Amino acid sequence: MNIAILGGTGREGAGLARRWALAGHSIIIGSRDRERAKAKAAELREITRKMPIMGESNAEAAKLGTVVVLALPAPGLATTLPEVSAACRDKVVISTVVALSFGGPRLYTPPPAGSSAEEAQALLPGAKVVAAFHHIAAHELAETDQPIDCDLLLCGDQAAKDTVAELGRSMGLRPVDVGPLSNAALLEGVTAILATINRRYGLKNAGIKITGL
Ligand SMILES: NC(=O)c1ccc[n+]([C@@H]2O[C@H](COP(=O)([O-])OP(=O)(O)OC[C@H]3O[C@@H](n4cnc5c(N)ncnc54)[C@H](OP(=O)(O)O)[C@@H]3O)[C@@H](O)[C@H]2O)c1
Repeated sequence: MNIAILGGTGREGAGLARRWALAGHSIIIGSRDRERAKAKAAELREITRKMPIMGESNAEAAKLGTVVVLALPAPGLATTLPEVSAACRDKVVISTVVALSFGGPRLYTPPPAGSSAEEAQALLPGAKVVAAFHHIAAHELAETDQPIDCDLLLCGDQAAKDTVAELGRSMGLRPVDVGPLSNAALLEGVTAILATINRRYGLKNAGIKITGL
């Protein structure tokens, strides 16, 4: 599958790119700066031993991807998504976005739309947004010689979730369907709990596994 990762120059997007490239997918790293995307793609090609990874502007990446991943900080949604709305029409769009701000009085502040995924859906009305990958830390994605010790919780459009579940399985994750996109606020909020556990216990990769399944 062709997977475009907007904000793919960052830690989370680059980690997803590595895992998916090694699973045989073609990756387009997106950035506000095309040259930065090309440099990150070259770096990732080197790390993954020449897997198909290219770099483009976010707008061009969204056109080229059959699936589009949002790996942007929350404030980047409003500035980035309007220009890619047409390119994302009828596509599966995966939101990994969490409105975390480190160092302030609140670690997590829910966006006015309820969740970043619902904000993305409002900005991309023709797309099928699925919220997923919030609990898979960049650090864990980057360690490609180790399996990821965490479930993939996802919510959103039913058919789109099947595609995202398959993409999760391709990197060794067990997908767990947690319902409609209106549950995205809960998925996003739990990320703040995981970040707090990491800090409290000196970890990097606190994650979630569902029991009883
Ligand atoms: N890091 C993690 O472990 C982790 C885990 C789960 C979920 N997430 C979520 O995944 C998203 C990305 O995380 P990250 O750690 O990779 O973030 P990041 O490194 O801060 O940002 C990712 C990329 O977004 C672009 N960007 C930065 N500010 C922007 C803005 N105002 N508007 C548009 N683009 C902007 C930058 O790319 P260019 O400058 O090249 O455009 C940057 O490389 C966040 O929403 C985060 O909450 C992260």
